[in-house]
Amino acid sequence: MTTVHVSASREYDVLIGRGLLDRLGEVVKSCTKAQTAVVIAGDRVFPLYGARAMVSLEAVGLRTLSYVIPHGEQHKTLETYGALLRFLSEKRLTRTDVLIALGGGVTGDLTGFAAATYQRGIDFVQVPTTLLAAVDSSVGGKTAVDLPTGKNQVGAFWQPAAVLCDPELMKTLPEDEFRCGTAEVVKYGMLGSAAFFESLEQHGVKDRLEDVIRTCVEMKRDIVGEDEYDRGRRQVLNLGHSFGHAVEACSRFTILHGQAVAIGMALITRAAVKRGDCPQDALDRLLALLERFGLPTGTDYGADELFAALGTDKKRSGSTMHLVIPEDIGRCRIEAMLLPAVRELLRLGGVK
Ligand SMILES: NC(=O)c1ccc[n+]([C@@H]2O[C@H](COP(=O)([O-])OP(=O)(O)OC[C@H]3O[C@@H](n4cnc5c(N)ncnc54)[C@H](O)[C@@H]3O)[C@@H](O)[C@H]2O)c1
Repeated sequence: MTTVHVSASREYDVLIGRGLLDRLGEVVKSCTKAQTAVVIAGDRVFPLYGARAMVSLEAVGLRTLSYVIPHGEQHKTLETYGALLRFLSEKRLTRTDVLIALGGGVTGDLTGFAAATYQRGIDFVQVPTTLLAAVDSSVGGKTAVDLPTGKNQVGAFWQPAAVLCDPELMKTLPEDEFRCGTAEVVKYGMLGSAAFFESLEQHGVKDRLEDVIRTCVEMKRDIVGEDEYDRGRRQVLNLGHSFGHAVEACSRFTILHGQAVAIGMALITRAAVKRGDCPQDALDRLLALLERFGLPTGTDYGADELFAALGTDKKRSGSTMHLVIPEDIGRCRIEAMLLPAVRELLRLGGVK
């Protein structure tokens, strides 16, 4: 087992190791004062791992409840959130109890937001079951739900009490979902570590999952430690996400988040090469790695559609947007751009 310690407004450990799910109760006992734990999971994940989580929690004497939500981004809504809060209140959860987010980023974001707001904030523990959640969404304390007008429009910064990451749980993940996680893994290499990017080119992800997760979590830990509230450096984690979110929105979420991030990274890197900000070789290596991981690198949506979809992006403020521009493999910068320049960037990225 590896432990990565995160120092933010709350200190906590990210535990990474095979078989850790059976130690969930022990971990919850060690980092909270809870008497009741509520396991919150999607309707695909709960039948796979819910019982094991509950057994482990009950074994340390916790009163244990479960709450199952429908799976999918389309349920990361105020309605699902409201229903969960009513359940917590009906079951008389108190401020010292704990929520367990057992699932991918959708479950983690929704549970985290419920934890941030129920009785003005209670503890929650993240148990990521997707690669994306393991390397990204479970760490750092961004929690949110979507509105019909855009993703993650309502949320809070609220750090978990612990993150328990058991790579065994990813064995049941559909291949497409695993690939989505690899897009975020490539993102870490691209934005901050040429050596890590090279290791992905040489050894891939699957055969050394634990190492890959640890490296990504350490990188995220460093970034969050410096800028928990996303006012500066943390924005580099949005590499590929502005254009990616636009692609996701245009597809009405039929294109998965990780696929959209891969497309977004490809578009922005193509544009950076055309502007002379990034060498051609970096783009060639990025495209080759994304394709090797089975990820898309282009889109048929037009510049008008994508530009309109950027309207609710949180990286926009007034008439400017902050975009992450790759300068080479392992290096990027944040650039504030006026909206017409963003549109031009889409065109340079190869969008018609
Ligand atoms: N908070 C953050 O910092 C942050 C960062 C990145 C992404 N996100 C959010 O994360 C979400 C995407 O997360 P995701 O990619 O994990 O998607 P997800 O949570 O929708 O999970 C993907 C699918 O896989 C299924 N699943 C999950 N684990 C499984 C397992 N072990 N076995 C079988 N099936 C399993 C789920 O039921 C779901 O259908 C988006 O809402 C995005 O906005 C948040």
